[in-house]
Amino acid sequence: MKVDVLLGLQWGDEGKGKIVDVLTPKYNIIGRFQGGPNAGHTLEFDGIKHVLHTIPSGIFHEGVNNVVGNGVVIDPVILKKEVDALTKLGVDVNKKLFISKKAHLILPTHRLLDAASENSKGIEKIGSTLKGIGPTYMDKTGRNGIRVGDLFLPDFKLRYDKLVAKHKQILKFHKFEYNLEELEKDFYVGVKLLKSLTVIDSEHYINKALDKGQTILAEGAQGTMLDVDFGSYPFVTSSNTTSAGTCTGLGIAPNKIGEVLGIFKAYCTRVGSGPFPTELDNAVGEEIRKAGHEFGATTGRPRRCGWIDLPALKYAIMINGVTQLIMMKADVLDKFETIKVCTHYIVDGEKIDYMPYDIVSTDVQPIYKDIKGWRTDLTKLSDISEIPKELNNYVAYLEQELNVPITIISVGPDRKQTLLRERVLV
Ligand code: GDP
Ligand code: IMO
Ligand code: MG
Repeated sequence: MKVDVLLGLQWGDEGKGKIVDVLTPKYNIIGRFQGGPNAGHTLEFDGIKHVLHTIPSGIFHEGVNNVVGNGVVIDPVILKKEVDALTKLGVDVNKKLFISKKAHLILPTHRLLDAASENSKGIEKIGSTLKGIGPTYMDKTGRNGIRVGDLFLPDFKLRYDKLVAKHKQILKFHKFEYNLEELEKDFYVGVKLLKSLTVIDSEHYINKALDKGQTILAEGAQGTMLDVDFGSYPFVTSSNTTSAGTCTGLGIAPNKIGEVLGIFKAYCTRVGSGPFPTELDNAVGEEIRKAGHEFGATTGRPRRCGWIDLPALKYAIMINGVTQLIMMKADVLDKFETIKVCTHYIVDGEKIDYMPYDIVSTDVQPIYKDIKGWRTDLTKLSDISEIPKELNNYVAYLEQELNVPITIISVGPDRKQTLLRERVLV
């Protein structure tokens, strides 16, 4: 068997959590492969909304195992909050959650370093989620990090103290004030919980499952345009959010990747700083934000809104090898008479249809094509055959431009508000 991958093609928050939850019954295992609690994945069913940060979005289904892979960074404090919330809802987390020994730990000082780094950047700050993601991945690649498996070693405290001493030096350099005592108390409570969970050699677990013929869905976090290599650097996160990240983040070979499901909004959003060529810093952007409730699931920050960006989407499809597309939040555009699609950019007076090297310091002007809106309430639809012809035209146009079939259209936040088109998955 192969591992299917579902990942974001824009700047995150495309609706990954919702669709992973919808698709989970088709799989035996759901695995997160990168990122950490900077992610906020929202699921809605039976009138209740759930937001997950570290735990894969398959956790609400019976008989499906959820793996937090080696590529993920874990904050025990946040993980504990998630586990507690799920336990309250009657989810038997311990039975179906498996944590990689090789996943790196976010220490309280990583969070402080994140804040100190952002402070020192002033107006050039990344707009990070302040969850300690950057500093933790820096320690990982700098070969100083502490992994989940280290919690069980006799010299764990020594390792912890050594790394924290290093962090304190950097915080001193930043002249950053803090009170570590309280933070460490919470950290050790979280660590106790983490040690009580099922900690595994996840690369062996995943590969054995594949050999046994089990089906696996890898759940991406963030989005392609936030990828540390291919995103709008330096306004990116610190991991590979793209399909290649699945291999390193779960320990599977490239030839074990199956379908790559690329998910995007019918428009576009971004939270945090950095370039956003199709951003609508005006009343239209505000209208989209209102209709789409575009506020961050992790930080509550208002998301910047804009029109869909085809050069960026084509780039994301290329980098990830996307085989199927999933279009989210079509209903948010229900009231628009005209919808705009960015087909090209003007850069240095030249019209281009690809993502240029630098969109941070270069002026990138979008060129738009108008599409007729459907002016229909999509949220009530229950079958793909009911979609208005204007939406059909929009979908057909995108498929022709992007050259990949759109197999799912989402028309509301609930599990049930999901319209499946012909070529349905696995
Ligand atoms: P993720 O990070 O990719 O999982 O996405 P988020 O959960 O951060 O953000 C997506 C938001 O859109 C959440 O509030 C979802 O409940 C909501 N959502 C998902 N799909 C749809 C949809 O088709 N229509 C509407 N209106 N909301 C949706
Ligand atoms: P999900 O999985 C949207 C953004 C932050 C910031 C940049 C770096 O819910 O789609 P970081 O804390 O990672 O160092 O922040 O990346 N960012 C996200 N934006 N969705 C996310 O996750 C994000 N995770 C990080 O806003 O601009
Ligand atoms: Mg999110």
